[in-house]
Parts: sequence; structure tokens; C-alpha cells
Amino acid sequence: MTLPRAAAIHVIAPEKSIKPAGIAHGDAATIAEISAGLLAPQASTSPKYFYDSLGSHLFEAICELPEYYPTRTEAAIFAGHGAGMAELIGPDMTLIDLGAGNCAKAASLFPLLQPREYVPVDISGEFLHQSAAQLRQRFPDVAINPLVMDLSQPLALPPSVPVARRQFFYPGSSIGNFTPHDAVAFLRQVRENVGGDGGLLIGVDLVKDPSVLDAAYDDAIGVTAAFNLNLLRHLNHLAGADFDPQQWRHVAFFNDAESRIEMHLEARVALAVRWRGGERSFAQGERIHTENSYKYTVPGFRDLLSEAGFRVDGIWTDDAHWFAVMHAAAAYA
Ligand code: AVI
Repeated sequence: MTLPRAAAIHVIAPEKSIKPAGIAHGDAATIAEISAGLLAPQASTSPKYFYDSLGSHLFEAICELPEYYPTRTEAAIFAGHGAGMAELIGPDMTLIDLGAGNCAKAASLFPLLQPREYVPVDISGEFLHQSAAQLRQRFPDVAINPLVMDLSQPLALPPSVPVARRQFFYPGSSIGNFTPHDAVAFLRQVRENVGGDGGLLIGVDLVKDPSVLDAAYDDAIGVTAAFNLNLLRHLNHLAGADFDPQQWRHVAFFNDAESRIEMHLEARVALAVRWRGGERSFAQGERIHTENSYKYTVPGFRDLLSEAGFRVDGIWTDDAHWFAVMHAAAAYA
């Protein structure tokens, strides 16, 4: 399964946690996965490796960029239609935020959604626990119980998460970082965890003029380039690799045939990389494929949700139709 931001490994109750964990440094399974990707004829890495602490902060910075329209466009949809969404969903639910990051999007909706409990889920443990601690001070009446999980693993929520009225929240179009096939598999798992009386509120980035898309993933001041290159530092840490980020450059473009932005790291010179248990030479110009970000049409994404066992009962977009927020309920109980 190709991976996006955060799903289920370690579950750490904040009060019991000594050191919040995301992907463990030196973990054999992690090194094996990284190694397999780097040794494939077309080298690739999972986008989950973007999100060490610095990567999470760089992603926050991306969301502030004028070129990166998804965050502000989605925020405007929430600002304009949040009350309608809240009416559809109803209060006092358990809000489960997949790939929560700094928790800001969900928090901005608390006054409207009025969750009883908030469960932010993310792979970047340290960052998640810091965000949750800040949120507890702002919303003392909401039970805030973070889960550190790798969303590339089976989505298994611990028994501590109430079964009734589970409202999943997956904003930011992180679903676009899965291939469509893997997106259906992931959404099916969410569907299995929703129960009969829950739902899913999801953000989806829509197909648009490629020049807008290209700029959003290759910004003028190089924040997205830093985000992509930081992956190499993270691989050095995780797999004992010796990547020199200065030998690589950021490449991003819209692949029309696949309806996706592709991000790559391209070798500036012929070079060799070693890591624990492996090594590989890269020719000048050879690339590591680091991320896909699929762009959908509204009918196309509705079909994807119904393939996963959901029934769409709410769709909200901006005037330019650059981004959509959809609500879906279980198609069967
Ligand atoms: C997290 N995800 C939805 C972002 C996206 O737009 O695909 C990740 C990102 N990659 C580069 N810029 C932003």
C-alpha cells in the first residue's frame, strides 16, 4: 500500500507515555521497507517518511504559502458551511482526526461540531502530543486522547475509543496521497470502524489548471523543496543512510494521464548511497519518487466512497471548484 500521512502501530496514552513515538529509529521492518523502495528499479519512498518533527513543521509552513491553495480553500469551505456540516452530523460525537498534525483544522470546528471526545491520530508522536497538550488548555471540556499510529498499517482503534457516534475527520486531501486503489482499501477500513451511526467528513482536492497545481508543489521560496529534501535527513536517521541532501534536487509536476502531482528527488550528480543493510548507485538525473497527490472530480470521488461502502449525504465546494468537502455515512448498517 502506498502511504500518506498517518494509520495503526503504537497506541500511547499521553499520561503513560515516557517518550512519544512515531516510526522507531532503527526498527528492522522500517529499514526493510525503506531498503525495498530504494532498491526497486524506479526507486521510491513512502510519503509517511516526510513527517519527522521538522517535516511536520515544514508541512505547516507549506500550508501558509500563497501557492498552496488547498489549506486556505478548505478552511474557507469550513468557515462558510461549517454550521451546515454540524447540523448534518449532530453534537456529542467522538471526533477521530486522521493525520491530525497540529490539530488546528479540527479545533477550528469544535465550537460548531461540539465533540464529546477528540481523538487526534498521527504518526509524528512528539508533534502530536505537543499539539494535544495545547488543545487541552483551550478546550478543557473536550476529552482529548491522542493516538500515535501509522495509517499505512491496518486501522485498528483501541477499545478506549467509544464505538457509538464515531465521526471520522480526514481533511486536507490526504486521501490524495494514496493511489485510488489504496484509497478505496483505506476508506473501507474507515467504514468498518464507523459503525452504523457514524460518518466521515473528508477533504478532496479537485482537478484544475495544471499551472495552479505545479506552482502549489514547487513554490517560489522553496519550502516544498525543503520538505521533500528533509526526507533524506529522516532516512539517514531511520536507516543509518548517508544521503547528502545537497546532491539532490526537488522535482514536482502534474501527470495528466494519472491525474496526480508527482514529487521526486533527482540526483544532481552520479552518486552512491549506503544504508544499514544496503547500497545503491544513482546516475546523474536519476530520481527517487517520493509522493503522489491525486486530484479528483466530485463524481469520481463520490464513486470511490460508494465503492468503499459509504453513501455521500453532503458536498460543499468553493466558488472556483478547486476543493470539495464531503460527508458520507455508512451505506449499510
Ligand atoms: C498531506 N498532503 C495532502 C499534502 C498534499 O498536498 O499532497 C502533502 C504535500 N506535499 C507537498 N506539498 C504538500
